[in-house]
Amino acid sequence: MGGMSEPFSAATPAPIGAAASGPATRVGPCTQRRAVLAALPGIILLPGIASACGMTEPAQPPSTVQQTTTVPATTVSAAEIPVGTAKQFKAGDSTVIVAQPAEGEFVAYSARCTHQGGVVQVIEGMTLRCPLHGAEYDATDGRNTLAPAPRPLDVVPVSESGGQLTLG
Ligand code: FES
Repeated sequence: MGGMSEPFSAATPAPIGAAASGPATRVGPCTQRRAVLAALPGIILLPGIASACGMTEPAQPPSTVQQTTTVPATTVSAAEIPVGTAKQFKAGDSTVIVAQPAEGEFVAYSARCTHQGGVVQVIEGMTLRCPLHGAEYDATDGRNTLAPAPRPLDVVPVSESGGQLTLG
């Protein structure tokens, strides 16, 4: 076909039901619809028709990489966070979760849920949960451990000096 791009033909249908095999092969409703049409005998989908199903699919999945954020500089006492626990603090208008996963090792995260911005709460020890839709995180490193959180909590810089922790 001189000068025209190759049409999406029935010879190469996308696999139907591939969504069950994980995020790497996730298929959106438009892709599934195109695959069903392409599988029908005698149906050839031209590119313009294939993209006109009326539903948009994200070009890329959301980032799953942990990010860093800052909050207004705030000082808290390290003694308030025993080893193996996490605690919530206010830093300006932000809410921060500070944890001590190992003796003398302090970590801090924004308490803003990476799903839709709920304020993550400390449930017990290092377990964090968002009250809005139930996403859970591990305060050891902020990783998301239960859906629907799409990525870990944002890291907040923290430094320790003389028993005082500076957040921000
Ligand atoms: S906003 Fe936190 S789970 Fe939805």
